[in-house]
Amino acid sequence: MTPAPSFWAVLPAAGVGSRMRADRPKQYLELAGRSVIEHTLTAFLEHPGTLGIVVALASDDPWWPQLPLAQDARIRCAEGGAERASSVLSALLLLTAQGVADDAWVLVHDAARPNLQRSDIDHLLASLATDDVGGLLAVPVRDTLKRAGADGRVAATLDRSLVWQAYTPQMFRLGPLSRALADALAAGVAVTDEASAMEWAGLAPRLVEGRPDNLKITRPEDLEWLRRSWQLDALADPGNPTS
Ligand code: CTP
Ligand code: MG
Repeated sequence: MTPAPSFWAVLPAAGVGSRMRADRPKQYLELAGRSVIEHTLTAFLEHPGTLGIVVALASDDPWWPQLPLAQDARIRCAEGGAERASSVLSALLLLTAQGVADDAWVLVHDAARPNLQRSDIDHLLASLATDDVGGLLAVPVRDTLKRAGADGRVAATLDRSLVWQAYTPQMFRLGPLSRALADALAAGVAVTDEASAMEWAGLAPRLVEGRPDNLKITRPEDLEWLRRSWQLDALADPGNPTS
């Protein structure tokens, strides 16, 4: 079996979290005694394959410097952009400027997904270690899908068997991903994740089934759900570090 590859982690964390309507970006909201982004970073800091981490931050971010992890030598900061894709590209360019090889693996993971489990990272690495393109964690859609008509009524029932929800981490090689993102952004293509840039470049990223609970905090109820879920875990297993 091919050994799991080492990798660089890139965390886009330059968003404002408008849908959370909180007093600060969601990556800095409190969850189980620490900020969301500290939990996310810990998943990578504790993984033996992590070579280093680049966090993309808003240029005027006053919260990051207050975190103890901001002093961690394994974490570097890049200046984020107006779109998630430009934040990721900025972090990738920092890696290249620091001499990281074009064929190095990069795992891009939303700062706002703090419930990433070691098993999901390992599954992604094992599934893609010898892949020519790379790929992403994703979850098959479970519910029946409806297409809405302009009148708010069901226009059609869709075939869900081929539809997946795209999660992160998304795992690609540094050079090809940087070029795909830069070209897609320059062409004005809407790039909502790394895979869509690779797709635009004519490649077919592999779908790797991940855990559904690796959810992105988008709205207040997502953070509440995670808070309750971790409290239940803590009751069931008082030694659990996420408690
Ligand atoms: N992100 C980023 N740079 C941007 C926009 C988003 O680095 N210009 C990051 C966010 O910080 C987040 C991840 O990309 O970790 C996923 O984006 P999303 O969930 O859309 O976060 P926000 O853009 O902050 O939220 P919203 O869309 O509700 O404003
Ligand atoms: Mg956004």
